[in-house]
Amino acid sequence: MSDTKTIHLTVNGQYRRHEVRPRQHLVDFLREELDLTGSHLGCEHGVCGACTVKLDGAIVRGCLVLAVQADGKSVQTIEGLSESGAMRDLQQAFLNRNALQCGYCTSGMLMAASELIDTQPDASREQVRQWISGNYCRCTGYQAIVDAICDVLADRRDAGVRDDKGVAA
Ligand code: FES
Ligand code: FES
Repeated sequence: MSDTKTIHLTVNGQYRRHEVRPRQHLVDFLREELDLTGSHLGCEHGVCGACTVKLDGAIVRGCLVLAVQADGKSVQTIEGLSESGAMRDLQQAFLNRNALQCGYCTSGMLMAASELIDTQPDASREQVRQWISGNYCRCTGYQAIVDAICDVLADRRDAGVRDDKGVAA
């Protein structure tokens, strides 16, 4: 019996066909087989959020999902969202606010924050704090990260108001 399984999926919009080990985790597959090393491994048991990626549009812990569970699905990583420009304002806000130091948590934090911004555009500061509480940062003390996310929420709300009034954003 074969000890690998063939999976078909799209990663950052690109079709992929790969042989994977049945117990290989999604984040290991992305890092080791596809060289997408932006997603990091921290705790390896679903606690720290460093491995956060999107699976069919929703954030998941890449260390808790097996690569075989991504068969037939769409995966987005920090590389894909960075190259598409989808989170350019969020990345700039992290820079402006000095919301990273060693950067180990940053890709997971950005993935989580981008989902919040997309799904809860009216989120309060407290809701931002709660949302990112599942992503650990050992350097920044979180305040700058919360500031950066709140900046983007406010900027996008302002841009929406300008659009509604027919003013070019
Ligand atoms: Fe996946 Fe920590 S490495 S949650
Ligand atoms: Fe170092 Fe967050 S910037 S862990």
